[in-house]
Amino acid sequence: MKTKQTVAVIGATGNMGSAIAKSLSKGNYRLLLKSNKQDELDALVKEIKSRNGNADIEAAVCPVEAGWEADIIILAIPYEAEKEAAERIREVANQKIVVSIANPLNGTFDGLLTTPDTSAAEELQKLLPNSKVIKAFNTTFAADFSTPVIDGKQVDAFIAGNDEDALQIVSELVATAGFRPIIAGDLHVSRTLENMQLLLIRLGMKYNYNWLAGWKILHN
Ligand SMILES: NC(=O)c1ccc[n+]([C@@H]2O[C@H](COP(=O)([O-])OP(=O)(O)OC[C@H]3O[C@@H](n4cnc5c(N)ncnc54)[C@H](OP(=O)(O)O)[C@@H]3O)[C@@H](O)[C@H]2O)c1
Repeated sequence: MKTKQTVAVIGATGNMGSAIAKSLSKGNYRLLLKSNKQDELDALVKEIKSRNGNADIEAAVCPVEAGWEADIIILAIPYEAEKEAAERIREVANQKIVVSIANPLNGTFDGLLTTPDTSAAEELQKLLPNSKVIKAFNTTFAADFSTPVIDGKQVDAFIAGNDEDALQIVSELVATAGFRPIIAGDLHVSRTLENMQLLLIRLGMKYNYNWLAGWKILHN
């Protein structure tokens, strides 16, 4: 049997952090959840354990502790908070996989805070030069995690990064969460992936998709 990997979710009580934690708790992972909201975090851990007695999950005291024990660190926090978080975890994230799920949206949801020659994921990689930053889960809405099959089709989830092994490991995470993983390319492809989610958000607002929407490539 494969060794169980430890996944730290920083920002675990947020929309995405809690959705990711709930779905990964069904897989063969040890989960360490970190939030500044201790009561909400304790309630989340309790809820997950009550749904799944086999869930290997616990609340971490701080991001450094969570990162120290983790093989994979998921930053489920806003883009604007990543610089500070990266500074805190830089040492413990050395040589580890750090998943960038952020979409660097502006305040009016009609553009990105990043310039076209970069992406949130590439900026995170600059902040964590000794980590393997992988873009994932940014093209899936939090609401999709409880319904990763929409209109009879499994939602695709795109992944980008520069390290082959890390891409495979994150693909397994994505599959465990119920999505179809598609490795889209190197980390710079994150520019496209982050723009794709901006477009989906714009379309969702225009056509009232109710946040239950996702990307699907149809092919033979
Ligand atoms: N919502 C979606 O459907 C969706 C889809 C794809 C990607 N994303 C990306 O996922 C990330 C999280 O989004 P979300 O919708 O889950 O946000 P959220 O519900 O607001 O949760 C964000 C979490 O980040 C933590 N945090 C740390 N520093 C923060 C700061 N300075 N300001 C605010 N929160 C801070 C908070 O956790 P504690 O205070 O508890 O530690 C909070 O629970 C974002 O980067 C977003 O672009 C979201």
